[in-house]
Amino acid sequence: MVLVRSLNEHVGTTVTVSGWVEQLRVHGKVAFIVLRDGTGLVQGVLAKAEVSDEVWELGTSLTQESTIRFTGAVREDARAPGGHEMGLTDVALVSRSGEYPIQPKEHGVEFLLDHRHLWLRSSLQRAGLRVRSEVQQAIHDFLYERDFVRVDTPILTGSIGESAGTLFETDYFGQKAFLAQTGQLYVESACPAFRKVYCFGPTFRAEKSKTRRHLTEFWMVEPEVAFADSDDNMNLQEEFVSYIVARALERCGEELEILERDPAPLELVVPPFPRISYSEAVERLNAEGHPFEWGNDLGATDETVISGWFDRPVFIYNYPAKAKAFYMKENPEDTRTVLCDDLIAPEGYGEIIGGSQREDDHDRLLARIEEEGLPREAYDWYLDLRKFGSFPHSGFGLGLERTVAWITGRHHIRELIPFPRMINRLTP
Ligand code: 4AD
Ligand code: MG
Repeated sequence: MVLVRSLNEHVGTTVTVSGWVEQLRVHGKVAFIVLRDGTGLVQGVLAKAEVSDEVWELGTSLTQESTIRFTGAVREDARAPGGHEMGLTDVALVSRSGEYPIQPKEHGVEFLLDHRHLWLRSSLQRAGLRVRSEVQQAIHDFLYERDFVRVDTPILTGSIGESAGTLFETDYFGQKAFLAQTGQLYVESACPAFRKVYCFGPTFRAEKSKTRRHLTEFWMVEPEVAFADSDDNMNLQEEFVSYIVARALERCGEELEILERDPAPLELVVPPFPRISYSEAVERLNAEGHPFEWGNDLGATDETVISGWFDRPVFIYNYPAKAKAFYMKENPEDTRTVLCDDLIAPEGYGEIIGGSQREDDHDRLLARIEEEGLPREAYDWYLDLRKFGSFPHSGFGLGLERTVAWITGRHHIRELIPFPRMINRLTP
C-alpha cells in the first residue's frame, strides 16, 4: 500500500491507496472521489466507461467517511487537492459509513466538541494537532541536544505542587492523593543525579475559569538546571522558545497555511527577548492610565497591554512573593519579591512560561511552606534536598497548548489538545 504523502514518487505508475472518503462529486459519467489517508489527500477520477458497472455503482454511492481502497494510475494535477490525481481502475469498500454527523457547513463549537472523536479528522483540527506533534518533538530534540535527561514524574502525588486552590483530590486507599499540578518538585530531586533534567507530561488543575487559555488537563514541559540562576533560566527559555517556533515554521508550513497563520510575527521570534521587571511594568501601566496596585498578580488584560509594548515574547521578572508559589527564591535585592519570570506571548496569547530560581535555603523554604499553610509532613522529602547537598538551581514550565495555540494562531487552546478537559467537559 502506498501512502498519499509519497505519491510524487509514483507518478506514471498504478498504485493502491487506502483511507476515508472526504468528498464525492458525480458529474454525469465521471465521478471525483477525494480520499484522505492520514498523510494527505488525493483525488480519484472514476470514468463510467473505464470500469465495471459494479465499481461505478459502488464509487458513485459512497457516503462521506466510508473506508475504501482505490487503485489507479498516478498523475500530477496542480488543481487537485494534494496536487495529484489517480485515474481509477478499481474501488473497494472496507466499511460503509453511516450518515456522518459533521457536514461541510457551520456547526456550533459545543456540537463539534461533543463529536471531538470525529472532529479530529477535519482539516483545521488535523493541521493544529500536527503542529502540536511537531512542537512536542522539537521540545525533546532541543533538550536532548543539550544533554538534558528526561525524568518522568508521578501523576498521583501526596504534596501540593503549586497552590491549594486548584487541586483535584482523590482517595488513595484511605489516604488523600492529588493529581499533579506540576512535576517540578520531583524533577528538582533529579538534578543532583543528572544536573540537567526535564519532565513532560499531563498536569491537572481544577480551574473554575472558563477562558480561552484554561484547561483542567494540560501538558507541560519542565526543564530544571543545577547551578543556573534566574538570568541563565531566562536565557534558556528564549533559546528554547525560538527553537520551537523556528521548527514549526520550517516543518509545518503547509499546516500554518491551512490555518491561515501569518508567519511574519513568528519570524521575529529570535533572542534576545525583551525583559521588564514586575515593578517597571506596574509603573508603566499606571503611567499609561491602566490603574494597577503593586503587589497584585498581573491578570490576562494587564499581560495583553504589556505584551503590546513589544513585537516578540516578553519576560516579566521578579514578582512580589505573595503573588507566586512557595518554592521561589527570595530576591536578595528586594525581599518583597522573588527571582522568577513569566514569559508572555505576543498577540494576546498570554503567559506561556512560568519559571523561577528555587529557594535553596532550608529555613527560608520551610518558613514559606508554613506561611502558605501547607502540610509540612508532605514536604519533608522536598526539604531534604536543601539538607543533603543544597545547590542553586532554576527551572521553568512551558504550557504546550498555549504555546501551540499561539504558533497556530487559533483563538482557543481547547483545539490544540486531542481531547480537551474543561470545567464543563469530560467527554468524549
Ligand atoms: O506558571 P505555572 O503554574 O508554573 C508551574 O507549574 C511551575 N511548576 C513550572 C516550573 O517552574 N517548573 O504553569 C506553567 C505554564 C503556564 O505558563 C501556562 O503556559 C501553563 O503552564 N498553564 C496552563 N495551560 C493551560 N491551562 C491551564 N489551566 C494552565 N495553567 C498553567
Ligand atoms: Mg504561572
